[in-house]
Order: sequence, then C-alpha cells, then structure tokens
Amino acid sequence: MKVTVVGAGGNVGATTAFAIAERDYAKEVVMVDIERKEGDKTFYPSKGRGLDMWQTAPIQSFDTRLTGTVDYKDTANSDVCVITAGIPRKPGMSRDDLLSINGNIVKSVTEQLVKYSPDTIIIVVSNPLDVMTYVAHAASNLDSKKVMGMAGILDTARYRAFLAEALDVSPKDIQAMLMGGHGDTMVPLPRYTTVSGIPVTQLIDDATLNDIVERTKKGGGELVGLMGTSAWYAPGTAAAQMVEAIMLDQNRIFPCAAYCDGEFGISDLFIGVPVKLGKGGIKEIVEIELDEHETKLLRASETAVRSTLDDFKKLMDN
Ligand code: NAI
Ligand code: 2OP
Repeated sequence: MKVTVVGAGGNVGATTAFAIAERDYAKEVVMVDIERKEGDKTFYPSKGRGLDMWQTAPIQSFDTRLTGTVDYKDTANSDVCVITAGIPRKPGMSRDDLLSINGNIVKSVTEQLVKYSPDTIIIVVSNPLDVMTYVAHAASNLDSKKVMGMAGILDTARYRAFLAEALDVSPKDIQAMLMGGHGDTMVPLPRYTTVSGIPVTQLIDDATLNDIVERTKKGGGELVGLMGTSAWYAPGTAAAQMVEAIMLDQNRIFPCAAYCDGEFGISDLFIGVPVKLGKGGIKEIVEIELDEHETKLLRASETAVRSTLDDFKKLMDN
C-alpha cells in the first residue's frame, strides 16, 4: 500500500504523513513538496521532514517507509494521494482569499499525480476546501467517487472536543454529524449529536449548545488568531483517518466534501455530506433526513460554496 502526500514539507502534510506512518499499515508514504531557495542555498523541506520522521521509526515502532521528494515519478502507483499543497490562511485572510493561488497549485499538482497514478484516489485538504476539491476532480478526470475533500472530520472533531469539555465527558463518546461547506456557513447538526447514544440535547442547555455550534463554525479562525497561521494537528490527523478508512476498507461514516449529483437537492457541487468511506473511495452518500431549519442552513451553505466556485471560474476565465 502506497500513499502520497503533497505539500508534506508543510504543517498539515507533514502531520498527515506522520499520522499514517504511525498506524503502520502502509508500505510507504511518499512526501512531495517543492524546493525552497534562500540566497545561494536550496532547501528540500519534504526530504528533511521525511528523513526526520523515518528516524522516529525505531522509537515509535513502525515499518512504514517515509521518503521525501520533489519528483512525481516517485509517487507512481499510489493507492491514495492527499493534496495539502498551497498557502495557509494568515490573520485577516479568509479561506476564499486563497482561491486563485491555491487553485493553480491544486490543478497542477493533480495533473502530476494522475500522470503517474492514473487510478488513484485523491483527498484534497487545501483551501478553500470545497472549491479546491472541485478543481482537483476537474483536473483529474477521475470518477467523482475517487475525489473528495477533508473538512467535516476536522470540524466535527472541534465540535466534539468543545462538547466533551462542556459536559466533562470523554471526547471518544461524542458522535456527531455536520454538513455544508468548510467555512462559517458549515452546519453542525445537534439533532445528530449523541453522547454514547444519548441525544446531546438531553444533556446540555440550548444556550451552551448554541455557543458551541458558533465556536465550531469559527474554529479555524480561532486558531489562526492564536498562532498566526492555520491549524495542523487536527487537520493532519483527520486527513489520515480518511486515508485509513479507504486503505483498510473500513466503511466509516464520515462527513466529507463529496460530489453531489442531486443528493440533498444539490447538483454539480462538492460540499460536506455524510458518506460511507472504504475501498475505492466514496461508496455512498448517506442521505439523512433534515428538518426545515437544517435544510435552510444547508441551502445557505450551498449558496456560499457555489458563489466561491463561481468566483473561481470567473478568475480562471480572465
Ligand atoms: P504550509 O505552508 O505549512 O504547507 C503548505 C506546503 O505546500 C508548503 O510546504 C509549500 O512549499 C507546499 N507547496 C506550495 N506549492 C506547492 C506545489 N506547487 N507543489 C507541492 N507543494 C507545494 O501550510 P499548511 O498549514 O500545511 O496548510 C496547507 C493547506 O491546507 C492550506 O491551503 C490550508 O488553508 C489548508 N488547510 C485546510 C484545512 C481543512 O480543513 N481542509 C485545515 C487546515 C489547513
Ligand atoms: C481550519 O479550519 C483554516 O481550514 C483551516 O483550520
């Protein structure tokens, strides 16, 4: 089993690669990044990070071989490719500010990946997530079941962590679903949130739950404000969880950015929906029932994602 992570000289990609290696089911993880020139020096961040991580193998006790490269030939025949290449959000930047820079990066990275792994599965992490997933799908010519975006696992993890803290329970016992785009219009779903099967609404008052939902929606921005750049531990481990579900054919039910072709009344758009993830990629979009309020919020999120996609298409036309 071979996994490639592009942008792995950076924070999210490196964390993804390390989280995959530590689980020890993959034969190799190839870490791609570009070279960085500073004066007369040239640095190779993914080669350096790959070597450093490989040297943890005797300590952390795994066999997965990690290697860094700038050459896509080394990625040939990857089962799954994760794209984290691009620039992250800085204070004051919205995810959409990243649109044209990351759009061009994701397009060219995708073309290189499918050239050497024409049957691969692609997981996009670069922002703005839902639109970048659309770009990767268009550039890859792969079946839409094989191209998806990571955001919902991260956003629900934040939601679950906040709830665990408020309820003073283990985060492991909190299960939740969330839909919509990866942005301030995301739709956490309290009706589909339980603590070991107990509806969360029975355990927490409305005002506290509402505060947690609002904090979740701004969870990425909160971390940008604290660190001056966007998060990587939770994003990287979330992407690794998707890789594992596919590689080990786990049939996990996760919120992922998937191509909707009429599901939930949404057409021709990648957006966060519940999916069954296993061998071959997205096996099914799970069409849960939504009430009027949830549907309204999902429509607003759909509109926001579509508007960013339209902006991107206009930028590309000019
Ligand atoms: P980073 O700056 O630490 O890493 C990005 C890496 O991409 C850098 O090492 C850079 O050299 C590399 N890169 C740039 N152009 C490239 C190219 N053409 N080919 C290969 N590599 C290239 O940034 P970080 O924090 O790792 O974030 C990466 C992306 O992930 C950003 O777009 C960020 O907004 C996004 N992100 C998405 C999340 C999500 O939930 N979907 C969560 C967190 C970050
Ligand atoms: C995050 O949610 C910025 O998308 C990034 O952390």
